[in-house]
Amino acid sequence: MPASLFSPIRIGGLDFPNRIAVAPMCQYSADDGVASDWHLQHWMMLAMSGAGMVTVEMTDVERRGRISHGCHGLYSDACEAGARRALDAARRVAAPGTKFGVQLAHAGRKGSCRRPWEGGGPLPAGEDPWQTVSASAIPYAEGWHVPEALDAEGIERVVAAFAAAARRAERAGFDFIELHSAHGYLLNQFLSPLSNRREDAFGGALENRLRLPLAVIAAVRDAAPGLMLGARLSVTEWTEGGITVEEGVAIARAYREAGLAYICASSGGNAPQQKVPTGPGYQVHLAEAVRRGAGIVTRAVGLIDDPRQAEEIVAGGRADMVALGRAFLADPRWVWRAAAALGADFTPPPQYARAAALPRKWVEAA
Ligand SMILES: Cc1cc2nc3c(=O)[nH]c(=O)nc-3n(C[C@H](O)[C@H](O)[C@H](O)COP(=O)(O)O)c2cc1C
Repeated sequence: MPASLFSPIRIGGLDFPNRIAVAPMCQYSADDGVASDWHLQHWMMLAMSGAGMVTVEMTDVERRGRISHGCHGLYSDACEAGARRALDAARRVAAPGTKFGVQLAHAGRKGSCRRPWEGGGPLPAGEDPWQTVSASAIPYAEGWHVPEALDAEGIERVVAAFAAAARRAERAGFDFIELHSAHGYLLNQFLSPLSNRREDAFGGALENRLRLPLAVIAAVRDAAPGLMLGARLSVTEWTEGGITVEEGVAIARAYREAGLAYICASSGGNAPQQKVPTGPGYQVHLAEAVRRGAGIVTRAVGLIDDPRQAEEIVAGGRADMVALGRAFLADPRWVWRAAAALGADFTPPPQYARAAALPRKWVEAA
């Protein structure tokens, strides 16, 4: 039987050659939001991987929406030109049919931090910190920057920034946009009762907490009507008082009704006290709950790195696609190995054809 993992799928009118996605991964290597030579090689490497869906890292819609000084953005002409340069090059070497998306985001109260390899955590005075914003003036954790609660004008500015970045994404040549509504960043901060204590139309009942994300979805759809639109969602926060799976599924349903074509089911990131039971495929049940409960194309992610495990998830109908993050950093030829392990056809670029038999040999030897 042919491998489900290598079967094509159409999502929101866009055709993907297989069910394998590269998960978005921050590289913290941009210069005031502008993609650098690191991005050039990184996007080209991912383009050649054979994954049908390449999702470019969290890309911030305004300067103060970055996590760190190194975060990639789409908030200036220079950012747009940098993204176009790296994307054009990536397309020139991409495996046939590869589609490229960009994950648009705003870090909110988790902004103004050091790069992970500089220790992470809030930027101290002297390292050019900035005022962060959020739903409410509640810091992510003790000792973190206290965000300013966005007022009505501030909310409008954020929505307009998402729309402007979406226009830039379309002009830069991306095929789709993924809204980052997970991991405790701004959209998640509005969705979660842990970080949203507002008493106006944007806080309280889920319907109100959804108001900003839904306004962003509407604005992005208007701004970039040619791009397929999906989202990454923290389906649960693994924390007392936070978003539950049931609420996560309700959010996914609202996103589908607002016109999103897929959900990548992730979790957590909004509360330092979260207790995440990590292990192989630890978030797959969330994708399954969203797929069944919200009736939307679903991508599973999180500690999926074995080809047979990935195949079982898709063939078993638990998710429509799988996304891999760290596995692609460790092994950019993961797709070759998966094809060898599952007996699927995969044609490497002609320049590398003489290496094509090796993954099968390695799989047989393992
Ligand atoms: C270096 C690195 C950067 C990441 N940056 C992002 C990001 O920009 N956006 C996002 O939604 N998740 C980000 N993540 C999370 C991954 O997309 C993925 O969900 C997570 O690593 C679990 O998948 P994995 O076990 O296949 O790596 C990042 C993970 C890593 C390792």
